[in-house]
Amino acid sequence: MDYENEMDFENRMVAPEYAPEDAEVENPLRPRTLEEYIGQEKVKENLAVFIEAAKQRKESLDHVLLYGPPGLGKTTLAGIIANELNVNLRITSGPAIEKPGDLAALLTNLNPGDVLFIDEVHRLSRSVEEILYPAMEDYALDIITGKGQMAASYHLPLPKFTLVGATTRAGQLSAPLRDRFGVVLRLEMYSPEELAKIVTRSARILGIPIEADGALEIASRSRGTPRIANRMLRRVRDFAQVMTDGVITYQSAKIGLDRLEVDEIGLDANDRRMLSAMIRYYNGGPVGLETLAAAIGEEAVTIEDVYEPYLMQIGFLNRTPRGRCVTRAAYLHLGLTPPGEQTPQQSFFDLARAQEPKDSASKDSLDGK
Ligand code: ADE
Repeated sequence: MDYENEMDFENRMVAPEYAPEDAEVENPLRPRTLEEYIGQEKVKENLAVFIEAAKQRKESLDHVLLYGPPGLGKTTLAGIIANELNVNLRITSGPAIEKPGDLAALLTNLNPGDVLFIDEVHRLSRSVEEILYPAMEDYALDIITGKGQMAASYHLPLPKFTLVGATTRAGQLSAPLRDRFGVVLRLEMYSPEELAKIVTRSARILGIPIEADGALEIASRSRGTPRIANRMLRRVRDFAQVMTDGVITYQSAKIGLDRLEVDEIGLDANDRRMLSAMIRYYNGGPVGLETLAAAIGEEAVTIEDVYEPYLMQIGFLNRTPRGRCVTRAAYLHLGLTPPGEQTPQQSFFDLARAQEPKDSASKDSLDGK
């Protein structure tokens, strides 16, 4: 995701991307050990074995590739890996490493066994990737300096290190790079129950009183993503503090999240706007990505990276060779009658209603709640 797109989503409650405001709070909330880390059971079980085996052999851990949607804890896992191995963690990202020399500087400064975490590893440039291959495979830097008769090549040994690469798009990784990761782990979206445990843990660390129903309500609206759940926790805490006695209950969570226009399944006004536009202008699809982007005034990559993953995950949107299609489940969620099941008058009134959030907060405030 590039920075231009991030700007569009600065204020989006359900954006899975990292926002600067997540930083202070995410840090104390980050689990430091596999034991503390909630969910991703398969990933944890396997990692525990690989880490233990490397420690027993007193070797560096093989290179690890973490992939999956944003906000699921890839950076957190890299921190846990380093912590469990008792080594240092260096954090960087694909776009931040501009020149081969930047990577060389990072690598030569590592201590034996250290973990180098490269976020968005699919965005490394070709020339940087080429430095990385021998570094990963032979723990060596092959550098050529000068040109023509002045050319010289150096083979510099490096400390044995572990590269932890993270990507939201494993398919965009070049094959030679992908093949050099000995451990490839896919992170899954979290269940509401797992997210409720994460929210409860975070509330405890932050000293926020919360009831089990309140945690589950936040969890259910967090799109399977801990980063979103923790962000919602902070906002709901504000509502609970100002509008009620400060305890996050089912009711105060619901009031807060309704006010933020995040509905029961985590859709926000942008998601509903996109789905409604697809229904209103294109009969629910198929509609091409670029056409849709122009219709709703959004960038195509933003639709692809931000809106679509969750809508597809919950079965509200399909990608077909002819374009995107809204599913029957999405019509029903928006309170609309699916095509073929409605009269024209019905569809007109349905659409007007679908523009409104399902559980409108304005209704609550009019009622004086
Ligand atoms: N905070 C963010 N992700 C977490 C996880 N998987 N377990 C515990 N706390 C978290």
